[in-house]
Amino acid sequence: MKIDLNYAGTSLIEAMRGNTAVREDIVRAYSELYAKTGKGNDFLGWVDLPSEITASQLQDIEQTAAAFRSKSEVFVCIGIGGSYLGTRAVEEALKPFFGTSGTLGAPEIVYAGHQLSEDYLAELLKYLDSKEYTVCVISKSGTTTEPAIAFRILREHLIAKYGTLQAAERIVAVTDSERGALKSLADLHGYKTYVIPDDVGGRYSVLTPVGLFPLAVLGIDISALVQGAAEMRSRIKVAVPDFENCPCAQYVLLRNILYRSGKKMELMVQYDPRFFYFIEWWKQLYGESEGKENKGIFPAGAGFTTDLHSLGQYIQEGERFFFETVLSLSQQKHTLQVPYADEDSDGMNFVAGKRLSYINAKAEEGTCMAHNGQGGVPVIRFIVPALDEKVLGGLIYFFEYACGLSGYTLGVNPFNQPGVEAYKKNMFKLLGK
Ligand code: PA5
Repeated sequence: MKIDLNYAGTSLIEAMRGNTAVREDIVRAYSELYAKTGKGNDFLGWVDLPSEITASQLQDIEQTAAAFRSKSEVFVCIGIGGSYLGTRAVEEALKPFFGTSGTLGAPEIVYAGHQLSEDYLAELLKYLDSKEYTVCVISKSGTTTEPAIAFRILREHLIAKYGTLQAAERIVAVTDSERGALKSLADLHGYKTYVIPDDVGGRYSVLTPVGLFPLAVLGIDISALVQGAAEMRSRIKVAVPDFENCPCAQYVLLRNILYRSGKKMELMVQYDPRFFYFIEWWKQLYGESEGKENKGIFPAGAGFTTDLHSLGQYIQEGERFFFETVLSLSQQKHTLQVPYADEDSDGMNFVAGKRLSYINAKAEEGTCMAHNGQGGVPVIRFIVPALDEKVLGGLIYFFEYACGLSGYTLGVNPFNQPGVEAYKKNMFKLLGK
């Protein structure tokens, strides 16, 4: 992955060379993360995770996953926040766009427990009535309301459909090694369990069984995913930042210079819908990690060219409080050209013979020029090679590491989420808990 600063703007590039205050803070952040001496350092298990996962751990996950796959037309993945978004980011990035309806041995994945819609769950149960299915319930705390309710309802449905014993063989629980209601429930009913390590928080957990088990059920090559992360780790996990050459150090530097100059929001955009859930995952990672003590960049997302016909106007001419980070995918799997038409009644012959990827690339280039040139929006571009497991593993690790560094640069603990409790307290009170 490469960083492209062609549309960042000259003043930002000058600031990158000169801004010593931010640089000093980032140097400190690098040293704290590397030496594990910063805030929340009891939650740094994710840093070395990719190189510590053993072949036998991966094999065990693969074996259980294969057994699940063979008896599922549908695989239900229950979880919320960090216990769900990593799986969805990778799955959506790698799956074909169409025709993933699900057969025994090649299940469709559906998600539950990531919101509280009654109709969603009711319709899911109806859908599952006629399907062979299995369930993976993921909750580190084991007490989160949304997945706990979804699991209670789905467990009842599973038992009614398959009987208690068979139902138990269709459930995997991913949770804490000792604590939490889910752990007790799994022990009581003999569900196969995978452990989320104590020192890995939810949003940094995609490379634990939280992400690896569901992804393996879908037939995704989890060894390659982990390998991609491990390779990225060996490139960017250093004690001292290399601002000249390392895209991670440059990203952390740029976003923190921009933040300190008044750009309070980062809009991550994509030109390929396969990145939609990757951006959702990134939003959660950065939002929960940085938004503390009345500080932090607000992470937002957009999909282009779709949103050029909605948010595009604001981005071009609205308030200037944000910068843009582009995920630029450099290769497509297929080739498709615009056909030539004799009559040219739609006026599209000017692109006849051109590949859609070429047209999309020109849309991206033109948009970056417009947003940065006329609009004055700083644009940071990441050039991402063709999407596969290794590339995604690398991207995940890259943004996790940059997130830890950015949080430390800001002076917050990037590994807790105390603010999430406020809504829960009110909800529980209102529900009479
Ligand atoms: O990143 C986090 O820690 C959170 O988003 C959690 O993943 C989310 O709240 C779900 O928590 P749990 O896995 O305990 O159900």
